[in-house]
Amino acid sequence: MSGRHEATPPRHRIEIENGRSFEVGPEEDTLLRGALRAGVPFAYECSVGGCGTCRFELLDGEMASLWDEAPGLSERDRRRGKRLACQSRPLGDCRIRIRLDGGEAPAAQPRRMSATLASRRPISAGMVELSFAMPQPPAFRPGQYALLFPAGVPGARAYSMSNLDGDGLWRFIVRKTPSGRGSSALCDHLPVGARVDIDGPYGHAWLRPAPRDVVCVAGGSGLGPMLSVARGVLAGDGSRRLHFFLGLRTEAELDAAAEADSLDQDRATTTVVLSNPRERSAWHGPRGFVHAEVERSLSAPLDRFDFYFAGPPPMIEAMQELLMVRHRVPFDQIHFDRFV
Ligand SMILES: Cc1cc2nc3c(=O)[nH]c(=O)nc-3n(C[C@H](O)[C@H](O)[C@H](O)COP(=O)(O)OP(=O)(O)OC[C@H]3O[C@@H](n4cnc5c(N)ncnc54)[C@H](O)[C@@H]3O)c2cc1C
Ligand code: FES
Repeated sequence: MSGRHEATPPRHRIEIENGRSFEVGPEEDTLLRGALRAGVPFAYECSVGGCGTCRFELLDGEMASLWDEAPGLSERDRRRGKRLACQSRPLGDCRIRIRLDGGEAPAAQPRRMSATLASRRPISAGMVELSFAMPQPPAFRPGQYALLFPAGVPGARAYSMSNLDGDGLWRFIVRKTPSGRGSSALCDHLPVGARVDIDGPYGHAWLRPAPRDVVCVAGGSGLGPMLSVARGVLAGDGSRRLHFFLGLRTEAELDAAAEADSLDQDRATTTVVLSNPRERSAWHGPRGFVHAEVERSLSAPLDRFDFYFAGPPPMIEAMQELLMVRHRVPFDQIHFDRFV
């Protein structure tokens, strides 16, 4: 033994203009995650630089930018000195300007853990379920997501848990995106037994207790979080019925429908919609966009239901228009994740 002891690197003090201050550890990867772990309710959605919800201004101090071209900032934002809390890393004490009124304290304290890939299961052409064994994970709510850090891929990737909390496994349904670096590293190259850093849980679209029946609408890989919400509803006291809608593109993806069909059919109705079936298809189910099928199938008024939906941005926008503008469903009955 040398008798020397390593000095602990100092924590960084973050002071919010006209507000509170908090500390982030030197090991913390971003201002956003440091704030949430300190219980400070920064507003955020995607956590991966795509939505712009976590914008702030640096008034004093030094921060590293992790992704200069992040699409969550417009050119105008950049000219006005805005930054993204999910793409900024404090390098010392800092003073910042940020609005806290749109934020919400985390449902559970997020943690970064080294997880082990326990199994891989094909769901359909292009989609796999990955199950990770998590060492002492914090509890997550149905509908939340986590950040995965596959080795050699820049940045984090957000994926939603598809199971229910409780058995130490976090399961994800991942769709392989053409030329996507993170999804192909996870779907094609990660062997069972490999370790991946996972940080979570995050997200606001988690299942809330309420007396109303629940409508879940999944577009493609939005299937994962909607299965988790659906399983949460069905694990409840039996008083809520479930309407589950799954929008897929073509017949090639239909194997994914088996996941929805496995839900308890005594309390759930399941509808699968194809947006792009072959011209001479044997498919006899509904065709078109999934949001249109939701409106066709459910009788008004739609404010009888709580709505949960997840999937690509155009589907999210169509659902928002349907529920908020055309059917005036109250905002607190609408919960969604946009896969930016
Ligand atoms: C809240 C949320 C939940 C999601 N849940 C699911 C799910 O359950 N299943 C599913 O299949 N997909 C999900 N997605 C989409 C998923 O996170 C990825 O966007 C998708 O898999 C494409 O990633 P890729 O690596 O294949 O593509 P790429 O094009 O390589 O990467 C796109 C993603 O990586 C980020 N990124 C790219 N380059 C950088 C960089 N240099 N530095 C930092 N970040 C970078 C982008 O913000 C974007 O999120 C979710 C997205 C969000 C926001
Ligand atoms: S939460 Fe930071 S850009 Fe979406």
